[in-house]
Amino acid sequence: MKHYLTTPIYYASGSPHLGHACTTFVAEFYRRYHEQRGHDAWLVTGTDEHGQKIERTAREKGEDIPGFVEKRSREFRELWRSLGIGIDGFERTTSESHRLVVGEIWRRINGHGDLYKGHYSGLYCVECEQYFTQGTQCPVHRRPLERFSEESWFFRLGRYRQRLIDHIEARPDFILPVARRNEVLSFLRGNALHDLSVSRTSTRWGIPVPDDDDHVIYVWVDALAAYLSALGPLDGEKFRQFWPRTTHFIGKDILLFHAVYWPALLWSAGLELPRHIVVNGWLTVEGRKISKSDPETIIDPLSLARETGSDPLQYYFLKSVNPGQDLDFRRERLVSTLNADLANNIGNLFSRYITLFLKRYPDGIETGSFGQEAAGSALLAAVSRQEDDFHQHVERFDVAGAARCFLEIASLVNTDFQQKEPWKADPDAGLEANFGIWHRCLETLTRVGSGFLPVHMERARTGLGLAGPLRAGEKPGRIRVSAIEPLFQRLDTSAFNGSGTDCPRAHRPG
Ligand code: MSP
Repeated sequence: MKHYLTTPIYYASGSPHLGHACTTFVAEFYRRYHEQRGHDAWLVTGTDEHGQKIERTAREKGEDIPGFVEKRSREFRELWRSLGIGIDGFERTTSESHRLVVGEIWRRINGHGDLYKGHYSGLYCVECEQYFTQGTQCPVHRRPLERFSEESWFFRLGRYRQRLIDHIEARPDFILPVARRNEVLSFLRGNALHDLSVSRTSTRWGIPVPDDDDHVIYVWVDALAAYLSALGPLDGEKFRQFWPRTTHFIGKDILLFHAVYWPALLWSAGLELPRHIVVNGWLTVEGRKISKSDPETIIDPLSLARETGSDPLQYYFLKSVNPGQDLDFRRERLVSTLNADLANNIGNLFSRYITLFLKRYPDGIETGSFGQEAAGSALLAAVSRQEDDFHQHVERFDVAGAARCFLEIASLVNTDFQQKEPWKADPDAGLEANFGIWHRCLETLTRVGSGFLPVHMERARTGLGLAGPLRAGEKPGRIRVSAIEPLFQRLDTSAFNGSGTDCPRAHRPG
């Protein structure tokens, strides 16, 4: 099965920050999850390099625009590589292949009778690259809206209102979580949908409108089409294979573009819609959205990952960002969560189990020797229920819920371990069976955890004797474990005490 997973195509107007990383972490989790299940997953991210916002920022910095976007784009690419994100495609909207696809989409939409020329006069936020019909200030960036008045091509968005409502109503999992779906539905039901201005004459930094060079294509139409161009030509094999199972991971700030404009543009161009649009809330610092337009909020993901490790950092966000809700980032909470969940709960469990196992059974145990006990084990049944729940949460795009199942498995085994006191000199009869059952539970734990912490869980599997081929002369029905280094280091909390959010601000944009 082929799965196409996308993050937003991030603006190349500034350096990447923790907010960008949040959405990428969710997409990466799904890539790993599918890969583990033997599915083909194709993860695409990239940079949005056109438009007035970029043009202005480069000018303000006295840099030439292509050189400016090249540098920013490289920063994003290098960040994902350094964090170990398994990107399959990195799409730049300034690439020639992208320009060709955007041109083709424009021609298709025009061929469908959905474009006409008119005059746009209204309000605009250059930071969002978004039109507004009312207000004086952008609700996200808190900057004055600018008035534009220019000739423009328009897309007949209004035509698609009812079709959009019908589509969203018929597919409860098209926009997730449900609160975001309801938000889009009530917007569509409560408002007339105005036609959309889709070209600009006041900036030259963009893709020219086919056969009308005075206009460049609205940067959002250009950027959304990156999801298509990242799969190659629209009649190509890759596109045919991956596009039908597309999931867009986005932040709530760009929901309207993905849930309203994008489907309408795709229909107009004669293309299928993505399967899912999964929306995360914002990461904030003291209640302020982490954003390059608010430099005090900027946190560099790489400097955090250097302290925690990239996968533990990803685990923290995957566990903490409840679907669709905002998360106020506090460094002490990051550290205490990682210490509690990973070092104390999961790491300790593996280390105690392996140490005791080696002491009691240096030659291993026969798997056949505890079949009956395993069949009646309440612990195994509870763990297996958690594994089922884990998959259900993942399928519903509730990654935080899935992370809770992972932790719950560890807690179940830890509690059982505590109760049975296998370290006692004279343990209960049936100890060997208990070790066998714990072994199975821990194996499940590594499977469930591998989307969050692939490298650590692989090491845990090595400790459980599950990784790699059988040792020479070994029978498959025997459990043998081997000593491993502690899976997680405890992080030093003292460095983080008493200073509120005390975020590292080493990585300021520009
Ligand atoms: N270029 C457009 C997207 C075009 S997609 C076809 C854009 N870029 S952006 O650089 O501003 O990135 C926006 C996305 O980054 C958000 O939708 C979200 O996924 C992520 N985030 C940026 N800041 C964020 C937070 N503070 N918190 C969580 N996610 C955030 O919009």
